[in-house]
Amino acid sequence: MSHGDRIETMPDGFERLAVSPNSPYAAMGDLKRAYFGVQFHPEVRHTPGGLELLRRFVVDICGCEPTWTAESIIEQSVERIRAQVGNERVLVGVSGGVDSSVAAALVFRAIGDQLVAVFVDNGLLRKDERLQVEQAFTQNLGVELITIDAIEEFMDELEGVTDPEKKRKVIGRTFIRVFEQAALNAGNPGFLVQGTIYPDVIESSAPDRNKGHVIKSHHNVGGLPEDLSFQLVEPLRYLFKDEVRAVGEALGLPVELVWRQPFPGPGLAVRCLGDLTMQRLATLRAADAIFTAELEKEGLLGKRRKADDPGIAQAFAVLLPVKSVGVMGDVRTYQEAVALRAVATDDFMTADWARLPYDLLGRVANRIVNEVPGINRVTYDITSKPPATIEWE
Ligand code: XMP
Repeated sequence: MSHGDRIETMPDGFERLAVSPNSPYAAMGDLKRAYFGVQFHPEVRHTPGGLELLRRFVVDICGCEPTWTAESIIEQSVERIRAQVGNERVLVGVSGGVDSSVAAALVFRAIGDQLVAVFVDNGLLRKDERLQVEQAFTQNLGVELITIDAIEEFMDELEGVTDPEKKRKVIGRTFIRVFEQAALNAGNPGFLVQGTIYPDVIESSAPDRNKGHVIKSHHNVGGLPEDLSFQLVEPLRYLFKDEVRAVGEALGLPVELVWRQPFPGPGLAVRCLGDLTMQRLATLRAADAIFTAELEKEGLLGKRRKADDPGIAQAFAVLLPVKSVGVMGDVRTYQEAVALRAVATDDFMTADWARLPYDLLGRVANRIVNEVPGINRVTYDITSKPPATIEWE
């Protein structure tokens, strides 16, 4: 209702159904022909009752049946995937993220053991992430997941690298080498699963590709060599994030995994400013886990989020290469600092810093300083994007 535009005169046959301070005709309808129009945005999350308004229009007025359910999406996808890949083997790289996990689970539902699932542990994962992914796939779904422990390789390559751009390049390059080896070991399957979702398709304004279109994999997996070419399987291509989550739950993926917040490809590396050592990563991981747990307890992150809460899209800890003086008991300390970052955003292009309750921030700071060795100070980042970015690197 914040628009400056307004309708001054209604078309013939219409009558006014709602009014607002901004607009003499906030909603109108031709009741005989069952035509309706609104001046505001029922689809926007902040519109009270917006979803109900859309439901009434689509279901009650237009007479559509709500058959687009997780189950029907799964059924259709399974058929489509089977038709596309036949008896061939299909490779998927799971990252622990929601999209790649749900895509993998869906393809597994369709083709079972023809799926080769690879998970690269690069040492830059969040607390318990590897275990969670392994359990979700092997125990919950029965997928034979190949975990490649590449921690040492990544840490060797990253030794002494502190420049943010260089970090990203080294991680990308190392990932490609490791994944390429995994593909070769798996006998170079002809198909590769991608967790592309509908907003990615809209954002890149990609002309809709044919399902079987062959692409060079380097366009999609951050630069795989040219001689490895795959056909893409993109089972989430027409789904929005909430649909992806619903499908994930219906497929039996655990709630914690399905409701995880987004996590950047380079992982904790871009949140561990300065030298990347196992020790510093462990420190960061511990602080991050405390912050996340406290937010989840309050229903500010994850599935328990309150319905009308503006929503923290991302919240995490950042380890700063800054030492400051503190006092613990009677002892002077000289240790590093952690910055907490929490943002509200719909599109991640712009973001506002989240107004977290002081008590919550206080509790998190206390817990981090008391429970995480090497940290004696906690700060809260109150810059929005722009001018800052969400991540620190
Ligand atoms: P920034 O820091 O640019 O982040 O405001 C916007 C969103 O993108 C995520 N991000 C990444 N995701 N690979 C990814 O897959 C990356 O290299 C990367 N860098 C940032 C970030 O977490 C935020 O959600």
